[in-house]
Amino acid sequence: MMRVFPLAWDTPPAWGEAALQDPLALLSDHAHCEMGATVSAQGMIARYPERARLVERMGALAIEELRHFGQVHRLIVGLGGVLGPIRTNRYVEALLRATRKGGEALLDRLLVSAVIERRSLERFELLAVAARQDHPELARLYLELGPSEAGHAALFIELAKSFYADGEVDRRLAYLLELEANVIRELPCGSRIHSGPPSPVQTGC
Ligand SMILES: [Fe+2]
Ligand SMILES: [Fe+2]
Repeated sequence: MMRVFPLAWDTPPAWGEAALQDPLALLSDHAHCEMGATVSAQGMIARYPERARLVERMGALAIEELRHFGQVHRLIVGLGGVLGPIRTNRYVEALLRATRKGGEALLDRLLVSAVIERRSLERFELLAVAARQDHPELARLYLELGPSEAGHAALFIELAKSFYADGEVDRRLAYLLELEANVIRELPCGSRIHSGPPSPVQTGC
C-alpha cells in the first residue's frame, strides 16, 4: 500500500468492535460519507474551474466516490437494510470551520480533505480486522476500500504541493492533524466512521 503521512492520534483498536455494534447504522453513515466526498469533489470543480489539473482529478475522484457509495449501498440492501437519513457530521463540520478564507482557502480545503481520507483509511483498517469473524462481508468491503483512501490522501497532498510551497503545506498539515486529533477524540463513540473512541474501562460504547 502507498505510504501516507501519520495521524497525530491513533484510534484504539477497540473502536472497531464498538463501531460494529450496529453494522447497518455504520454502513449508512459510511454511505453518506462517500456521497459527501463526491459532493465535495464537485464543489472544488465549481469553485476553482480555472485550475485544469484540479478539475481533472476532482472529476475522476467524484466518479470513484460515487462508485463507492453504490458499493456500500448495495451491501446495506443485501443485508436487508435501507439507507438511513443523512445525519449532521460534527467531525467534518469542525474541520471545515478551521479552513481560512482568501488565498489560503484552497490549501486548507485540500488538506482537510487529505486528513479526512487519512482518518478514514485508519478506520477502514480497524474495521477490516474487527469485522473478520462476525461480519465477513464488511471485512471484505473495508479491506477493498482502504487502499483507495490512501490514494486519495496522497492525491490531496500532491495537489496542495502543486499550488503551494512544500514548507507551507507541511506546516499547515501538522496544524490540521493536531486539530483533527482533538476533534475526533472528543466525539461520542458510536456506529459511525468518524466517531469517538470507546471508554477505556468498558467494552462497546
Ligand atoms: Fe471512497
Ligand atoms: Fe476517498
